Amino acid sequence: MIDPLGERALMCGIIGYNGSEDPKGILLDGLKKLEYRGYDSAGIAIQEKDQVVVFRSEGKINKLESKLSSKHFAGSLGIGHTRWATHGAPTENNAHPHQAGTITLVHNGIIENYLDHKLNLEKSENTFKSDTDTEVLAHLINQAAASGLSLKEACLSIIPKLKGSYAFVALNDRQPDQMIGVANGAPLIVGIGKGETYLTSDVQAILNRTNKVIYLKDGQIAVCKKDGVEIYNTKGIQIKPEIKTLHWTADQMEKAGYRHYMLKEIHEQSQAIANTISGNIDPVTETIRIAELKKLQNTLKNVSRISIVACGTARHAGLVGKYYFEKLARVSTDVDFGSEFRYREPVLEKNSLTLLISQSGETADTLAGLRESKAQGVPTLSICNVRESTLARESDVVLYTNAGPEIGVASTKAFTTQLTFLYMLAVELGQIRGILSKEYAKELSNDLMHLPLLVDNTLKLEGEIEKIAQSFQDNPFFFYMGRDNQYPIALEGALKLKEISYAHAEGYPAGELKHGPIALIDKQAAVIVLATQNSAPKTLKVSVNETLMGEKILSNLQQVKARGGQIFTVGTEGDHEFTKESKYFIGLPKTSWALNPILSTIPLQLLAYHIASLRGTDVDKPRNLAKSVTVE
Ligand code: G6P
Repeated sequence: MIDPLGERALMCGIIGYNGSEDPKGILLDGLKKLEYRGYDSAGIAIQEKDQVVVFRSEGKINKLESKLSSKHFAGSLGIGHTRWATHGAPTENNAHPHQAGTITLVHNGIIENYLDHKLNLEKSENTFKSDTDTEVLAHLINQAAASGLSLKEACLSIIPKLKGSYAFVALNDRQPDQMIGVANGAPLIVGIGKGETYLTSDVQAILNRTNKVIYLKDGQIAVCKKDGVEIYNTKGIQIKPEIKTLHWTADQMEKAGYRHYMLKEIHEQSQAIANTISGNIDPVTETIRIAELKKLQNTLKNVSRISIVACGTARHAGLVGKYYFEKLARVSTDVDFGSEFRYREPVLEKNSLTLLISQSGETADTLAGLRESKAQGVPTLSICNVRESTLARESDVVLYTNAGPEIGVASTKAFTTQLTFLYMLAVELGQIRGILSKEYAKELSNDLMHLPLLVDNTLKLEGEIEKIAQSFQDNPFFFYMGRDNQYPIALEGALKLKEISYAHAEGYPAGELKHGPIALIDKQAAVIVLATQNSAPKTLKVSVNETLMGEKILSNLQQVKARGGQIFTVGTEGDHEFTKESKYFIGLPKTSWALNPILSTIPLQLLAYHIASLRGTDVDKPRNLAKSVTVE
């Protein structure tokens, strides 16, 4: 049966170079930095005299690199692509670049109506070598170019015929001085160097070459020559682009001596959190104050419901956010998967606010949630790590986590900085709505300022966690449980482990244990219990819930123990009761109810990392996953 969606590149990395150097090294280097976006197959194309030569390979970039090791090129214009597909086999045949006539093309995203075009093209005797929508696109451009149009004119002429979200970069044998990039719903960035230009789907690929960039807006076309770039709108009218200077440096993209990016990023968390807090504390009142929220003051004052929309790890951050918003600001909060929210015809109240959370700002389902909310006239606020991403550009207000580039596919520092911003947002909201007293808001702000140090101290427990990982490395099943705002951390701990070690892991609210999962507990089960103690607020009485949680989780632990489960408790230092009851125990520095989830995330990241390392998986590029999923 033919897959109606065809053999499409769902999430990919694009790089293009036009300059004076041999493009092979630049393209391969760029592709390696984009590999987090997909690594099923890869390819490059280089303009040599009057023809474009293409090399492709299935598998990761190093396979392509070996294939190219003895090749030298005279040309200085080329494009490359790394691919992540979810339909059909990731074969060399389906790898990009694709060619038709004089056109060579790399593409990210989906051409939804490609089958209609394919049928028409077949009628006029075009033949296809792959099942991809990309090859159809190459044929469409080639057909237009063959009728006498320039590459730019050919691209302009076919854009109105395309349905879907995509970005592509095209070469034409007959115009060896240029490459053309088109963006429409998928990111494409122009890089400007001295006597050279670049096109890429992520600035990470070119940061070591230039920090001057233009983010293409939907419908824009970039004509990139050695000596500069021209940007046109869909009507072919030239427009003056805004050239931006990037803050991220090439050094941040390196592993800095760590074995994996993931480990480096885990260890960067105290700095990333400090950078995220920085600038959001009023020096006079010493209380959290987020300047960007000024624009939303009225909305926040009257907000009756917050809808959080996110995917994967970012959604887990949203689940913690729900506890923060309901407890500290008394605003009713829902948390949705982007993929569910977009299709369930959500009923958004008049005084509601949609909060989108995303590291990349490019996750298709999260963006769909943003657009649905806008269509219903609901204000949108986002927490995002990547400046100028689609989410950042389209939201009413953006709060940037300052985590720096996150390259490991499994998200770590983005998560804890998202939690940090959610905390700050809840404290600000609690004040705006008159729920938090000035004193309590100040105390919460003061607690937060100690967080980077507490994170540092937690990271020092790595040696102990590594030993626990050694004893757990062969367990077939892992069960994570926590109550209250530690329940989402149980979900996140389990997700981290499955993503990178491929072990079966589940996260659950501990109170649900008796409603099913307890049936899975036996001597083989590794059970991770989140049982931190909360330091009592100085300015408030401790709520009943907070004091009860310890007793409740202890009783859940005992239920597991009675069935032979191997218990590892993440608790608070000096907790003798839990130490006694657990096979393994690590004690985190004591902190408040709201900050405990941030601290207890760290041992779970380290546990997942060390188990995966011991199992010998590719930690930074786990099988079948991609860092950001830009299409459905
Ligand atoms: C992918 C990644 C996850 C990430 C999720 C959402 O599934 O592998 O690590 O949490 O996308 O990504 P975002 O960029 O929106 O936070």
